[in-house]
Amino acid sequence: MDLPASDQQESLEADDRLDAGLTVRAATMADLAVVIELRLALLREHSENPIYRRLRPDAPARASRLFAAQLRCEREVTFLAESDGSAVGILRCVASAGLPLLFPARHGYISSVYVVPSARRHGVLRALFTAAIGWCRERGLREARLHNTVENETANAVWDALGFHVVEHLRVCHLS
Ligand SMILES: CC(C)(COP(=O)(O)OP(=O)(O)OC[C@H]1O[C@@H](n2cnc3c(N)ncnc32)[C@H](O)[C@@H]1OP(=O)(O)O)[C@@H](O)C(=O)NCCC(=O)NCCS
Repeated sequence: MDLPASDQQESLEADDRLDAGLTVRAATMADLAVVIELRLALLREHSENPIYRRLRPDAPARASRLFAAQLRCEREVTFLAESDGSAVGILRCVASAGLPLLFPARHGYISSVYVVPSARRHGVLRALFTAAIGWCRERGLREARLHNTVENETANAVWDALGFHVVEHLRVCHLS
């Protein structure tokens, strides 16, 4: 499969479901505001989940500091999908260390995946994921991992469709 170079703006017109103007590019510090907006929207969509519903009141201020540091970090990339100049989707990918006793030493860890409701089911995530695979391959990463919430039926279907299978469950126990 031919994969796009991650740091360039890529035209994705080959997928005929996509708007002609849809592009995917690596976010820069200039995109901090929209990165915050999309990632907080993702958290707000998970308001029923036992972990993600506990959003801190100062989350926007924390997000600003945290996401700025992430945008500066060379071990990771945040991709933005844009349609006619407006951001419609986001995906973050980190070159993460594996467990010290196991292969592989590093893998691509995908997180913060969100497509605005009006742009869903048009291949925006597929386009973001293609960019992330390309970024991983350029760095010699041959495995991608991610977590999704167990009750998110769309996410379960999406990641199945994109070739991910479940290998672990995250369990939570509230201690009194
Ligand atoms: C999950 C999400 C990112 C998918 O984005 P999207 O741009 O709509 O996905 P795509 O159109 O690229 O779909 C890719 C494939 O996933 C599957 N898929 C997508 N949405 C689906 C749905 N609602 N139900 C079942 N399968 C679905 C399909 O197989 C689809 O391929 P196809 O259209 O060729 O059949 C989007 O629904 C979203 O932002 N949801 C809220 C946030 C969220 O749950 N994020 C995931 C966190 S892990």
